[in-house]
Amino acid sequence: MFEALSPLPADPILGLSAAYKQDDNPDKIDLGVGVYKDEAGATPIMAAVKKAEQQRLENETTKTYQSPAGDPEFDEAVARLLLGDTLANCRVASVQVPGGTGGLYVAAGLIRRCNSEATIWLSKPTWANHAPVFTSAGLAVAEYPYYSSQLRGVDFEAMADALRKLGSDDVVVLHGCCHNPTGADLTGQQWQVVADIAIERGFTPLIDFAYQGFGRGLDEDAYGVRLLAQRVPELIVVSSCSKNFGLYRERVGAVCLISAGREREHQALPHLLNVARSTYSMPPAHGAAIVSSILHDEALRGQWQAELTSMRDRMNGCRTLLADRLAGMGLGDSFDHIRGQLGMFSYLGLSVAQVQRLREEFSIYMVDSSRINIAGINQQNLDYFANALAAVSQT
Ligand code: LMR
Repeated sequence: MFEALSPLPADPILGLSAAYKQDDNPDKIDLGVGVYKDEAGATPIMAAVKKAEQQRLENETTKTYQSPAGDPEFDEAVARLLLGDTLANCRVASVQVPGGTGGLYVAAGLIRRCNSEATIWLSKPTWANHAPVFTSAGLAVAEYPYYSSQLRGVDFEAMADALRKLGSDDVVVLHGCCHNPTGADLTGQQWQVVADIAIERGFTPLIDFAYQGFGRGLDEDAYGVRLLAQRVPELIVVSSCSKNFGLYRERVGAVCLISAGREREHQALPHLLNVARSTYSMPPAHGAAIVSSILHDEALRGQWQAELTSMRDRMNGCRTLLADRLAGMGLGDSFDHIRGQLGMFSYLGLSVAQVQRLREEFSIYMVDSSRINIAGINQQNLDYFANALAAVSQT
């Protein structure tokens, strides 16, 4: 049976980590997978997470099954984190899922049950795993224009024109903040326009919200989510705790269904849970329990927020450091746009050939789109990286 399978290329993001590990160049730099790194290049466990984990180890009394919705205390706390004060005005059903990817998959399963003819619209470009998740759930995907290399930012006019052609069979995936891979986000005014078009055309927005707290702040980054939650009749939000709690391998996330009427929520929730039950039965408990403890304990929450702020500050610092260094290298304004990007990623605007040269000649690993994990930059590797970038940019 297995001989029917053809070989697959390496994963465009995770494959970079494997290649980096095998590279024996002492100057190699890993700017691939989106994981936070400190100045020493490590991805440490956050102190608030460690404390919550220790408490859990001491106080946990059972490992019995939980429900497909996961831990109700986590579900409630995460909905509050995403929606803040607007929670009081929304009808929200929130369920725990195995990470952002797991959340997207069950959301896709729900969409398919609602309308097997639905088309999922993804920004061009988008996270390399979006299309595979939705297509493996049996849905059709298409692209709307988003980033323009000429503008070196969002081409909102083109995006809005494309959205104006959609209708009730369409689901539009939006990045809540810190757009992956470009770091180019919508402005508050643009979010308002997206809400207007969604209402007018009747499509359903699905917000992928994986980087809350990595852009401007926990509340600031939730602007689009909170706005749409109040304005559109139905919204799906898929959130992840991989980045902002550093719980990558624990697989912690949530799906929130937000709707204008109680009946719709009652109709959708059992189906979402039924998709979860038939896919993985119930989400893993450990990471969600940590998040729940942190969000319910004032001291732990304060510590977590302080750590998150210092991670964000470090990433912003790396961005400025890199932009300043490149500006001083006679490359004109070629890389000035990275100053305005937000979150973990910077989109350099290189060709695939230039990215490959960086990998092959300099052992610098980034996604083919020329997305870099800005947290991978540090004082140690800044010069090596900037010189390599100048070498491939000038040829
Ligand atoms: C990324 O975009 O690098 C991360 O979200 C990790 C992943 O799963 O691709």
